[in-house]
Amino acid sequence: MLSVKDFSLQFVKNICEKATYYENKPKDMSNLDYQNKILMNIFFEPSTRTMLSFQTAMYKFGGKVINFNKEISSINKGESFKDTIMTLKNFADVFVIRHPEIGKVQEAEKILNKPVINAGDGAGEHPTQALLDFYTIFKHFDVFNEDTKLNILFIGDIENSRTIHSLDILLKKLSHINIHYKPYDKNSLSVEKKKELGLNVKYYPNLEEYDVIYYTRIQKERSINTTASYDKNDILNLEKMKLIKKNAIIMHPLPRNNEISPDVDSDPRCVYFEQIENGIYVRMAILNNLFSNKIPIDKSTALLFAEINKWEL
Ligand code: NCD
Repeated sequence: MLSVKDFSLQFVKNICEKATYYENKPKDMSNLDYQNKILMNIFFEPSTRTMLSFQTAMYKFGGKVINFNKEISSINKGESFKDTIMTLKNFADVFVIRHPEIGKVQEAEKILNKPVINAGDGAGEHPTQALLDFYTIFKHFDVFNEDTKLNILFIGDIENSRTIHSLDILLKKLSHINIHYKPYDKNSLSVEKKKELGLNVKYYPNLEEYDVIYYTRIQKERSINTTASYDKNDILNLEKMKLIKKNAIIMHPLPRNNEISPDVDSDPRCVYFEQIENGIYVRMAILNNLFSNKIPIDKSTALLFAEINKWEL
């Protein structure tokens, strides 16, 4: 699972269905035969939600998790990336990898030759975040229905946000979804990006037009323009919330800086904390997909998934 470019719409539907199942039927899954499976988190960049939700998802199935810790690893003795990955290959069945450089997760996958989940590669992609973001939209809107015309606004570090990049590719698979982009800083988009996004870049969007407004922080760690900063007008506060549709949702992959005022958190339209919970169910669905065919599941789950998979065919 390296890029959302590889996901078919059927696959996305399948993940949404399974995540719904896990969300609505929270029972003890630990009797399932995931006990012998080991997942390894390999994070070369900080993470709170992605790493821990994979761990939770695996534990819910009764699986095991090892967390590689770069700070106390032999990388500090000068060991190369390749040798490190060659070593880690022996210790787990599936690898969740985050790296600050585009291409490094793909490089690791070639060395490992085992299932690899891209948990964020620099300013590249973040496919599992896109799936949980999509699932959040799916829970609020009839998103697979062509008659559901949705207007979505991405606000923030459009150039560097991998969560925007992946969700954007996923949403574009549905032609009834209309996407606009509002970069924080007028000068923060490269010429190529401006060209790619064309008229869909809105420097002064009317918030009242949108069903989904997706904020991101400035990715300071990889910003080509470190001077990029928020305009006072970019910050979502109680005043701004008054302009937004009653049934719209406000999303953010988190962590936030100051782009969304905590004053608005209790507004039911703000679903960024719900996204975190959705991440557990979506990652359970991802793991089930990964291990299915290899791992027997309990009978009622097997029947349900048989239904889903038939629908997928
Ligand atoms: C994001 C990431 O790491 O790309 N966080 C996440 O996984 N939920 C967003 C960010 O760091 O800004």
